[in-house]
Amino acid sequence: MQTVLEQLPPVTDPHVLVGTNTGDDCAVYRIDDNLAIIQTVDYFTPVVDDPYDFGAIAAANSLSDIYAMGAEPSFALNVAGFHTRELSLDILVQILKGGADKAAEAGIQIIGGHTIDDKEPKYGLAVTGIIDPAKVITNSGARAGDVLILTKPLGSGIITTAIKRGLAGEAAIARATEVMGTLNKATAEVMVAVGVNACTDVTGYGLLGHLGEMTRASGVGARIHSRAVPVIQAARDLIDTDIDIVPGGSRNNLRYVERFVNFDPGLTAAERLVLADAQTSGGLLISCPAEKADELEASLADAGALVHARIGVMEAEDDTGRIDVEP
Ligand code: CO
Ligand code: CO
Ligand code: CO
Repeated sequence: MQTVLEQLPPVTDPHVLVGTNTGDDCAVYRIDDNLAIIQTVDYFTPVVDDPYDFGAIAAANSLSDIYAMGAEPSFALNVAGFHTRELSLDILVQILKGGADKAAEAGIQIIGGHTIDDKEPKYGLAVTGIIDPAKVITNSGARAGDVLILTKPLGSGIITTAIKRGLAGEAAIARATEVMGTLNKATAEVMVAVGVNACTDVTGYGLLGHLGEMTRASGVGARIHSRAVPVIQAARDLIDTDIDIVPGGSRNNLRYVERFVNFDPGLTAAERLVLADAQTSGGLLISCPAEKADELEASLADAGALVHARIGVMEAEDDTGRIDVEP
């Protein structure tokens, strides 16, 4: 069966440096040899109940695609859906304030946007940046022998689903809000300074889904150590209490990645599901040359990264992008 994108006209504009064919985070459009525009858009329905926090998380998530490619944002536009007859306009103001404050933290401003009438609130940003075309970090540059480093713990999909079902405690909500609201700015700056081979951020397809995009685009295989992957403790507790808390999207992710992921038979269902958990505003997954991994880890720690976990390695060249997951 053809994917949606396969049924659409292929991208043929010669200015396009990064388009739809590699599952990269942003589009990159060449202006001249030294300058390219980098652009992304992302928006979604509320993941937490507090409208200000939702706005901040949505903005951090939208900016993340720019950071994952080693670029810096220049400005952004709001994209919002809101039912003005059913909800107080103050809620929309709070959402937009959360977004504006997060953009300010990123060093940019939101200079326009568009809101439509929509029964379910939605919010995010279209973000534009500029970058030297020679310095774009894609998901297709990973090499066999690279070390894989992750900069945020997993589990936000499990916790946001628990929030929707009224099953998340205050501490779990606070931790997930902190993790999702953290900009990938400082970690991306470190990654650019150290010099790495490939990067993507971890969002809706989960760790294994995004890693699979990277291995396929790069023509390498990967080996992951499940117990080296950091997970928000509250998410572990929730899944250990009741595995049905795992959202449908994460279960679909797991079903999809099983085509190219070999799980060690000793891994539990919970361990597999966490690795496929659909993340909101997740961390950077960086493929770093082995000889630079110590420097990258130390610099990430200095920059205040939430985590700097070595979760595995890239292995021999492999057209299928196969991933082995060990305990
Ligand atoms: Co992304
Ligand atoms: Co995105
Ligand atoms: Co308009």
